[in-house]
Amino acid sequence: MKPTVPVVTPAPDLLWAAIIDSSDDAIVSKDLNGTITSWNRAAERIFGYTADEIVGRPVTVLIPRDRLDEEPRIIERLKRGERVDHFETVRVRKDGTKIDLSLTISPIKDRDGTVVGASKIARDISLQAQVKRDLARANDELKRADRVKTEFLAIMSHELRTPLNSILGFTGVVLRRLAGPLTEEQEKQLRMVHGSATHLLHLINDVLDLSRIESGHVEIHAEDFPPAETIARAIRTVEVTARQKGLALVAELPALPEIRGDEQKFLQILLNLLGNAVKFTHEGRITVTSRVTGGMIVTSVADTGIGIPADKQGILFQPFQQVEGSSRRRYEGTGLGLYLCKKLVTLMGGQIALVSTPGRGSTFTFSLPVALEARTVVAEPAVVSA
Ligand SMILES: Nc1ncnc2c1ncn2[C@@H]1O[C@H](COP(=O)(O)OP(=O)(O)OP(=O)(O)O)[C@@H](O)[C@H]1O
Ligand SMILES: [Mg+2]
Repeated sequence: MKPTVPVVTPAPDLLWAAIIDSSDDAIVSKDLNGTITSWNRAAERIFGYTADEIVGRPVTVLIPRDRLDEEPRIIERLKRGERVDHFETVRVRKDGTKIDLSLTISPIKDRDGTVVGASKIARDISLQAQVKRDLARANDELKRADRVKTEFLAIMSHELRTPLNSILGFTGVVLRRLAGPLTEEQEKQLRMVHGSATHLLHLINDVLDLSRIESGHVEIHAEDFPPAETIARAIRTVEVTARQKGLALVAELPALPEIRGDEQKFLQILLNLLGNAVKFTHEGRITVTSRVTGGMIVTSVADTGIGIPADKQGILFQPFQQVEGSSRRRYEGTGLGLYLCKKLVTLMGGQIALVSTPGRGSTFTFSLPVALEARTVVAEPAVVSA
């Protein structure tokens, strides 16, 4: 059997008093002179004053000196019968410490509708305020770190290129026997120096390009050019390596019109894709196709190489992502090429995608507008939003 609970109905005034006293928010009332007229238990807890200590005193004892001008403005609005909703501000406790509050203040009217005072609900938002401040600080810190990183990368890669170009220049001079005869072994060693320095230069150029893109300052040029010639140039660049690996390298192109675009960036994207195709193909062929359709030039680089597992296809356009982790790498590279391609293609308003079957080969396809407008892209560095 359920015990019967006697239902006691308190007088309405007592009921209100009980509700107000059990509230987690401070509930306070004041008259239009700003004198405190009531004070609930949560107000005691939040501000540190008991009702006995504070009722009858001016509400300004709770207001920090630098915010005293808030009170007349609040009173002004209350006199007009307006409410102040979720006003976030700071007040002072009895012990002098500050507290972040959200205030909702409503006018109290007498029977004739005349405003005679105000009731105020104050919610403690110290935690939210602290989180907001921390986030804002972290955000500033991040922005600054991002700027420093980008500047550092830009300066470093620029500074690194100068001595590197001199290494390339002088090893070239020696390799061409301009400094005297070389033994076969010396030539072999020197070619390795030259090869590594060339590789390093590419790497530095990629980092420099990326830091420019990420610092948000990229010049997109627009000039008329015959894309078939650019494709031929790209093919010539990788031809020697392809031939050494016994790969066929062909362009299957219809008659392509002149297009308006950034030829240098078009070439750079092609070189990255062709470089990958040659690197990851051991037999068969690499085919470049291109056509103009719907205002875009759509170019593909297809290979008969090792292919890319389906679960890796999605991440390769992100920086430093490679199918083989660095622990068991057989192929040279940093994992920046595709990231750079995607950035460049997207900046110019195009798209890049891949289709691949492991063991059969891969096809990378990108589109670019054929009537590009020159502009400078200024992008904000990525930040966390508060
Ligand atoms: N044609 C391809 N066939 C097979 N795998 C490829 C092909 N192209 C790219 N990949 C895979 O995607 C990864 C990322 O390519 P990406 O060009 O970004 O970097 P990378 O070639 O390793 O280094 P980098 O281009 O910076 O010298 C490669 O490491 C490889 O695992
Ligand atoms: Mg690459």
